[in-house]
Amino acid sequence: MLLRIVQNEEKYYEFIRILRTHSDNVSGFVEKVDITKEQQKKYMEKYRDQYYICINEANIPVGWIGVVERDIRLCTDPKYKGQGVGKFMLNELYSRHQDALAKVLLSNEPSNQLFLSCGYQIYKQDEIFKYYIKNS
Ligand SMILES: CC(C)(COP(=O)(O)OP(=O)(O)OC[C@H]1O[C@@H](n2cnc3c(N)ncnc32)[C@H](O)[C@@H]1OP(=O)(O)O)[C@@H](O)C(=O)NCCC(=O)NCCS
Repeated sequence: MLLRIVQNEEKYYEFIRILRTHSDNVSGFVEKVDITKEQQKKYMEKYRDQYYICINEANIPVGWIGVVERDIRLCTDPKYKGQGVGKFMLNELYSRHQDALAKVLLSNEPSNQLFLSCGYQIYKQDEIFKYYIKNS
């Protein structure tokens, strides 16, 4: 799959919300609450530029990644999982935000594998999370 990263803009707010609250994805996040369109718009207006959208060769958005206060969050459209989208987004994010960190639920095997496969190291672990950093 040929992938590229574009800046977030208003037309992607709903794409981000829908993937974030998708039943296949929501268990990966700490906050499992529903997000309304209005809440999403308000949040995006604050953090729009910290989010990026991954687009495939057919110009279809297939995932998103963001970093807010150094904390990484990302999501791949379930239709495109396991095809390298997460890895591409995380590597692209690193080229823009070297100081970003991640806090991943112990139960979230795909996400833990993703961070390890992109060269992140665990610098801390507790009963709930593994904490990742990538040293250059
Ligand atoms: C985590 C997530 C973003 C991974 O996205 P993806 O596009 O499927 O990931 P990739 O295809 O790029 O895979 C990246 C690596 O993770 C591994 N991986 C992906 N899915 C996996 C799974 N279900 N089980 C085990 N390993 C998995 C891959 O093997 C790959 O490693 P490799 O390159 O060494 O083979 C995706 O599963 C997702 O959106 N999850 C729900 C949201 C979430 O949990 N976000 C993280 C919150 S911080």
